[in-house]
Amino acid sequence: MNRRVLAALGSAALALSMAACSGDGAGSGGNDSDTPADLTIGVSMPTQTSERWIADGNSVKEKLEAKGYQVDLQYAGDDIPTQSQQVDQMITRGADVLIIAAIDGTALSGQLQAAADADIPVIAYDRLIRDSPNVDFYVSFDNYKVGVAQATALLVGLGVQTKDGAKGEAKGPFNIELFAGSLDDNNAHFFFDGAMDTLKPFIDDGTLKVTSGQTKIEQVAILRWQQEAAQKRMEDLLTSSYNSGTKVDGVLSPYDGLSRGIITALQNAGYKGADFPVVTGQDAEIASVKLIDDGVQSSTIFKDTRLLAEQAVIAGEAFLTDKAPEANDTETYNNGVKVVPSYLLPVQTVYKDDIKPVLIDSGYFTAEEVAAGQAG
Ligand code: BGC
Repeated sequence: MNRRVLAALGSAALALSMAACSGDGAGSGGNDSDTPADLTIGVSMPTQTSERWIADGNSVKEKLEAKGYQVDLQYAGDDIPTQSQQVDQMITRGADVLIIAAIDGTALSGQLQAAADADIPVIAYDRLIRDSPNVDFYVSFDNYKVGVAQATALLVGLGVQTKDGAKGEAKGPFNIELFAGSLDDNNAHFFFDGAMDTLKPFIDDGTLKVTSGQTKIEQVAILRWQQEAAQKRMEDLLTSSYNSGTKVDGVLSPYDGLSRGIITALQNAGYKGADFPVVTGQDAEIASVKLIDDGVQSSTIFKDTRLLAEQAVIAGEAFLTDKAPEANDTETYNNGVKVVPSYLLPVQTVYKDDIKPVLIDSGYFTAEEVAAGQAG
């Protein structure tokens, strides 16, 4: 156990026994700053440009503070040196546990070594930290299944498959394009693998045609998941591969921000109405939920960040009380050095009809927020 945690727990126990001996009320016998409630959890989030990370940061902070912990929450503006520096500072300021959603999954080995040297447990939040033995736990969603769900939503949107997995009426051939996330994010590979395993049989039998021929993750990845870069790539694809009357029928997009860039490029090229291509997504960002409600974007994958934050807090508390957090997967996430014990949450596909039952009735968004396309 972390030395500071032991000391804090020890003093708290001493304070309690002193209070018991003297008959004083709780808290009157010791120094408040020595109680476990004064432990600090450092929370390092990648960026505030995507609303999901703001929601994640806020949820983790609120849940930890509700339990009385101190929280040092930092956002790194998608800049790797900034994140390294922020984690370094959390360590020097005496964090007792670190919860980190990495920008580049391979860039934090030095910081994690410093954390291990100071006996600070590290929880990788949603994105696995790679190439380090010092990742103690991983909380995330089933990322392979996210990719399967995205590809399935593309097939359903095109009518090749029905929502219950049966063969659909549509035969194709359909022209599609593929997008992937940032190559330095471990999740991007899981999403793409899940999607490609699902789409491959349909590409092989000619139902789907990737008109550009770009089917390798290196060809379709978007660095730092940037919306503008996705828009630019879609514009380039339209110019290079759709200049002779061929129409795009569908786009596999792994994240709502990329989907919005792709949609803008398609709209600027004149796509509209019933002929608008099927575009997938992820994260149920409010602007995209509105686009789904308006019939522009076809689907998104909802990952309830409230549940993920809860798991991070449960894991953090387990470390603070010297228990191993409960894992439900001890096989899938090899970070290059070891298999990191993980807690994976399920995901849900959201089409227009699912907005009310899944997002509004669960309190994730209000009907007004969906109508406005803006949270808060
Ligand atoms: C997350 C996704 C998110 C993406 C871009 C990934 O690591 O798992 O939910 O869409 O990063 O922020």
